[in-house]
Amino acid sequence: MSQIRSIKGTHDILPSDSRQWQHLEQIVHDVCGRFRYEEIRTPLFEETRLFSRSVGEDTDIVSKEMYTWEDRGGTSLTLRPELTASVVRSYIQHNLGSQAPVQRLYYMGPLFRRERPQKGRQRQFHQFGVEAFGSENPEQDAEIIAIAWHMLSACDLNQTVSLQLNSIGSSKCRSDYRNVLKDFIRPNRDQFSETSQKRFDTNPLRILDTKLEHEQTLLEGAPTVSECYTAEDKAHLESLQNFLTAMEIPFTIDPRLVRGLDYYSRTVFEFTSPVLGAQDALLGGGRYDGLVETLGGKPTPGIGFAAGMERFLIAMDDQSNVSKTDVYFVCLGEAGLSTALSLTNELRQSRFNVMFDPLRRSLKAQLREANKSGARFALILGDTEMEKGTVVFKDLEKGEQKNILQKKIKNLFDNLTN
Ligand code: HAM
Repeated sequence: MSQIRSIKGTHDILPSDSRQWQHLEQIVHDVCGRFRYEEIRTPLFEETRLFSRSVGEDTDIVSKEMYTWEDRGGTSLTLRPELTASVVRSYIQHNLGSQAPVQRLYYMGPLFRRERPQKGRQRQFHQFGVEAFGSENPEQDAEIIAIAWHMLSACDLNQTVSLQLNSIGSSKCRSDYRNVLKDFIRPNRDQFSETSQKRFDTNPLRILDTKLEHEQTLLEGAPTVSECYTAEDKAHLESLQNFLTAMEIPFTIDPRLVRGLDYYSRTVFEFTSPVLGAQDALLGGGRYDGLVETLGGKPTPGIGFAAGMERFLIAMDDQSNVSKTDVYFVCLGEAGLSTALSLTNELRQSRFNVMFDPLRRSLKAQLREANKSGARFALILGDTEMEKGTVVFKDLEKGEQKNILQKKIKNLFDNLTN
């Protein structure tokens, strides 16, 4: 049989990398906890219509990137390509809005998009993100961006990233803008691709997402959505800018930033990093004031962001957080095994990282392994020590060793760390 390998665009997280993942996950828990956000975990697959209704039929995600299949019962199911829709579904289903006027949620987990794999772009990838429901005020937007900023700072990325910010206006503004944009495109409409021509009728704002160079040229000089802002839209964006300045979070306004999902209204933003190459978006988000209602809930404003964890790890390139072995326990001879297991257990209960060799190898082989593991100490238990009720305590860094009573080991280690 030919060798079975992982599916293109999916990756194993191997032991050599998992510490970095745990480190990042811990930062997410810590930072979100500091802002009093609570974790929510939703299923990996949902009904397809959840995503087509929220993310939007005309988006790249829904039109070509979803893993969708028909369940035996005939329902169309999809592996989640993003998490905001799932969180909103859960918020409505469990009536979370009735529990508190503001719901602050965060999440982490795998997502699935059938994109062309490249550096920083996978078919199964991971995000962490936050969503806040209940406030349409700009201070909520500022808090969400502050969480992102704290995350980036905790990962030492805040010096290299840049924040692009825009408002795509309220729904009134966007419907005016749709007409203005169509008027601009109409004279050259036939020079656009088939997809864009279709979007001209269904969702003209999506045309601004185009990756085609000739379309980008055709769009040069197109009116921006800011020309259609209402007075409230303007005031909202201005307040947000003031709050960000007060928190010393640097940003630039990018009037062309629209983001690739349909549910946004008003604030949209992205943090990019130059070290990521072509896939430079580390984190993106925005406000989605109409989404809860679209999915059948009471009208409730919301805003959030999600970050690509693989991209964070590439940008962090963190080698520092490697966990160390404290003690390598060498047991020589079968007679000592029970004592050895009981002593190692005791040390682990005192929170020491203890490695035990289950191969019954020679002293030399085990000590070689102990050095390889980076252990600071070795404990050696042979037949002589068993008879005397002692163990050899070896400081691998200093090369010194002494005999100590087995019943004094725990004490000795407790004193070492004090
Ligand atoms: P998104 O911009 O589609 O937004 O994804 C957010 C982040 O996920 C991106 O900035 C990128 O870092 C990462 N990402 C996306 N696709 C891939 C991929 N194929 N491989 C690796 N990383 C990827 C959302 O998903 C929205 N739900 C964000 C949001 C939350 N808006 C409001 N609340």
